[in-house]
Amino acid sequence: MKVICVAQQKGGAGKTTIVSNLAVAYLAEGKRVALLDTDPQGSLGRWMDIREETFGEDDMLHFATATAYGISRAIRSIRKDADVVLIDTPPKVDSDVRWILKEADLVLVPVSASKADVWATNDVLDLAERAGTATRIVLNRTRAGTRVGDDVAQSVAELGARTLDATLSHRVIYAEALGHGIGVLEAKRSATVSDEVRALAGAVSAELDG
Ligand SMILES: Nc1ncnc2c1ncn2[C@@H]1O[C@H](COP(=O)(O)OP(=O)(O)O)[C@@H](O)[C@H]1O
Ligand SMILES: [Mg+2]
Repeated sequence: MKVICVAQQKGGAGKTTIVSNLAVAYLAEGKRVALLDTDPQGSLGRWMDIREETFGEDDMLHFATATAYGISRAIRSIRKDADVVLIDTPPKVDSDVRWILKEADLVLVPVSASKADVWATNDVLDLAERAGTATRIVLNRTRAGTRVGDDVAQSVAELGARTLDATLSHRVIYAEALGHGIGVLEAKRSATVSDEVRALAGAVSAELDG
């Protein structure tokens, strides 16, 4: 069983988007997925509610809320039902978050195309390093060839953290899918977007297995 945590102090960077889309990608690979939401805002729970209203319950997909302090117990209690555990986190990085980072095999840090996201990233990188957990930055809302995109990529490179080659582009379908309780893979609207989500899931698996 692998534990992936998505963390970033900046709200709106794409944590819940990445968790929900990775969940659907791993389900499509036949994996059993457990979601743990530690964000009191509960966006992932809302996504899950809508999903269950639409498709009914799914034996392959479990959901629970957890506190940062209770994360270890929460992981233990779902251990036998999951191949992949995905942990969503609140938009703050404080000492509590360390409990979560410590339990993860990999921490994904979304950075969307804004300098503010880059500035917000140092704390989580520091905390994860102290917890001894590997981190990878995931560039989100990328727009090929735009100047702010190049600028952000440059600043991210200066953070000294490793960045996944796989990125998510800026597409309305991500927002729509989140609101409909699905992943963009299930929306089947754009092969390009589906490909980038599968590529992200593959890149994350490669980091975990490598
Ligand atoms: N790549 C993207 N393209 C378009 N909209 C996105 C993308 N990533 C996130 N969003 C939208 O931005 C908002 C914030 O994303 P969310 O995943 O909820 O961030 P966080 O969980 O970090 O606060 C949501 O409405 C989401 O649908
Ligand atoms: Mg969120």
